[in-house]
Amino acid sequence: MSGAGAPDFFYREAQRLGYVARSAFKLLQMQNKYKLITAGSSVLDLGCAPGAWLQVACQNLGPLKNGGSVVGIDLKQRGFSVVLSDMCPLVSGITTTDAALSAELGMRALEVAVGRSALGHMSGDIQMDGQSKPSACAPDDEGVLRPGGHLVIKLLESEDTQEFRRICSPLFRKTSWLRPKATRSSSREIYFICQSLLS
Ligand SMILES: C[S@@+](CC[C@H](N)C(=O)[O-])C[C@H]1O[C@@H](n2cnc3c(N)ncnc32)[C@H](O)[C@@H]1O
Repeated sequence: MSGAGAPDFFYREAQRLGYVARSAFKLLQMQNKYKLITAGSSVLDLGCAPGAWLQVACQNLGPLKNGGSVVGIDLKQRGFSVVLSDMCPLVSGITTTDAALSAELGMRALEVAVGRSALGHMSGDIQMDGQSKPSACAPDDEGVLRPGGHLVIKLLESEDTQEFRRICSPLFRKTSWLRPKATRSSSREIYFICQSLLS
């Protein structure tokens, strides 16, 4: 809509071409003039809602094989329905060290997904460095996973891995362990699957 409330040219064009907002034409003009986004670009769109710039950015990424990506964040986002963490530390070969680093990365993924406030005191048994240890709750301690959402965390198996189940069982409807068929037999990796975050 134009400022006066009547549909203007760009509003109608956006409708016709399937863009979610007329703002698409702002980025289209920049793109036509400066060619900012090219095949294989990796784009971070800050303040992306309702998503017209995301649409334009995606249209300019070129073929899938070029590996382009677009990530958008916005205050209006209602979170994510699935959070995947395949994070793995640089493996040193020292089993206990690698497992501890993996558990720490797993805790970070869990914290991003459900928020520090949901974890509260429960994560105390898994070692984290001083900065990331859960502290007093603040409004931004909320996680990014929506109620009902699912979480996957890769871990290197150790005695700590069962702690994840203890922490997550009260938070999710169902938790399971999976060792995928594609995992090498020499690897200690295991995936922790958490289904349906409780609200
Ligand atoms: C003009 S709109 C963006 C339109 C978008 N480029 C498109 O084409 O669909 C501005 C956006 O900035 C977001 N925003 C404002 N402050 C923000 C913040 N601190 N963090 C994330 N998003 C923010 C608002 O929620 C709003 O959706």
